[in-house]
Amino acid sequence: MEQIDPDALTQLEEEYGKFMNTNSHSLLKKHLTQEVFDKVKHRVTAEGATLHDCIRSGLANPDSNIGLYAADTESYILFQELFDPVIDEYHGGFGPSETHPKSDFGDPSDLGDLNELGDYVLSTRVRCARSIEGYPFNPLLTSDQYTELEQDVEYALENLEGDLGGKYRSLSEISSEEQEELLQRHLLFKQGDRFLEAAGASRFWPEGRGIFLNNDNTLVVWVNEEDHMRIISMQYGGHIGEVYDRFVRAVTILSDNLPMSSSERLGFLSFCPTNLGTSIRASVHIHLPLLGRDRKTLEDTAAKFNLQVRGTSGEHSEAEDYVFDISNRRRLGITEIEALKEMCNGIKEIIQLESRMEEGSSQSRKQSH
Ligand code: ADP
Ligand code: ARG
Repeated sequence: MEQIDPDALTQLEEEYGKFMNTNSHSLLKKHLTQEVFDKVKHRVTAEGATLHDCIRSGLANPDSNIGLYAADTESYILFQELFDPVIDEYHGGFGPSETHPKSDFGDPSDLGDLNELGDYVLSTRVRCARSIEGYPFNPLLTSDQYTELEQDVEYALENLEGDLGGKYRSLSEISSEEQEELLQRHLLFKQGDRFLEAAGASRFWPEGRGIFLNNDNTLVVWVNEEDHMRIISMQYGGHIGEVYDRFVRAVTILSDNLPMSSSERLGFLSFCPTNLGTSIRASVHIHLPLLGRDRKTLEDTAAKFNLQVRGTSGEHSEAEDYVFDISNRRRLGITEIEALKEMCNGIKEIIQLESRMEEGSSQSRKQSH
């Protein structure tokens, strides 16, 4: 096995020492103990990734929740003493001897409409990440590889037809005004995320980056942002059955036309360990004026159902006008349909709780008159 060069090791040791003196609450700080650090710090993957390549983001951003990214697929194995406990904790119990179940997308028509219980859900979205075999992840991609990867994906996207059919455009062909508009409509990725930037994910920007939109703007594919691909299905309202059906059809066609990276144990492989396995994040934008004023109850209820609460513009954003983005938290160790059901069941409970709170507050208003 190749070993890290001495200057690079000195720099890694210095930065690690400083980081351990911060009061970071990240999983990186918790699990990269001195013992683990000393065990893995010399290692280099066949493609040249070091431990430093995987932890740069967490070192530069002590306020990270997680703090590490795999520089290539081999990093998950070579640095497993670090990745395994982080994966186990994030995905709510996935020990080193566990194996991700076989893919099972289930039957989308089982899922129905989340607004049957009341009009709380403004929009519904299901996304997954996919990596293409034969390419490393962001920190190791060359400028030529970004362009090649983009071409591979663009070519595969031509197989989407009918309601899935649309157009791919490179980011450099989209004016900054239109990019801003797409961002406001939640269709485009943010730029300049400091966690991704420190992870080495913004090199050669905007080379190789782009977005596919179907004609109805309900199917979106992001190319070379955090992952090689993000496949997204979304629409207004709460019809999760329709959103998921479109998602499954698009993922199936793209998987038939591109070799997706996966491993026996970890399922689909992604840049961030939070997105392994099914890689699915099924979310709703939901208006919760009462629970939103009682953040502790909202967070506790979400946690009870393995859900995660984000702000209106996604990760690391705040809720505007009590509109929250709530999704399944774990993606690994469960099947695709289980991830979807986990989100739906939790959201139904949250809707019932919000509507009980509404009844309670209208009763007490009546009594006070
Ligand atoms: P990810 O792409 O990993 O799922 P982000 O939190 O960065 O996560 O979200 C990306 C974009 O998707 C943001 O603009 C966010 O507001 C938007 N988004 C997430 N869920 C929904 C939803 N249910 N409806 C509309 N937009 C959504
Ligand atoms: N690295 C960031 C953190 O640790 C984000 C982690 C999860 N999100 C993601 N987009 N991969 O807080």
